[in-house]
Amino acid sequence: MSTEIRTANVIAIGNQKGGTGKSTVSVHLAAALGLMGQRCLLIDLDPVCGATRHLGVQANDFAGTLELLTSDEPFEGYIVSKDMPPGVDLIPSRPQLSELDSRLSALAVRGPHAPAGPRHRGCSRRV
Ligand SMILES: Nc1ncnc2c1ncn2[C@@H]1O[C@H](COP(=O)(O)OP(=O)(O)OP(=O)(O)O)[C@@H](O)[C@H]1O
Ligand SMILES: [Mg+2]
Repeated sequence: MSTEIRTANVIAIGNQKGGTGKSTVSVHLAAALGLMGQRCLLIDLDPVCGATRHLGVQANDFAGTLELLTSDEPFEGYIVSKDMPPGVDLIPSRPQLSELDSRLSALAVRGPHAPAGPRHRGCSRRV
């Protein structure tokens, strides 16, 4: 029996200054990697939701990175695959991600099982 070892690289794109091309680079890099035969999971961690919108997903249509970071649910349930470029999947963002600091502070006080935000309702669920 052979055991396939799969590895993944993490590429983080950030810049404190606005309008410097973070979202554009993220989306185009993911699409280019997809065209090269790689599988790329694009995780939008910006409450401005530039990459999410760039890929045609309305911010607030889906639970995404806010729920991913404030729940115990597996990440697979937050992946949007429909209508994405070849090889690309997305975990979207929504503006409420700006509440992350206060949500995490509340979790630290109340414990990890306190309810936070919209319910997790299965793959690519609407909020
Ligand atoms: N290489 C480039 N050449 C010219 N224009 C670009 C380039 N990359 C991005 N832009 C343009 O610059 C603007 C800002 O890009 P983008 O939204 O990707 O920046 P951002 O850093 O994600 O901004 P924000 O901080 O608001 O999230 C957009 O209008 C985009 O089309
Ligand atoms: Mg952006």
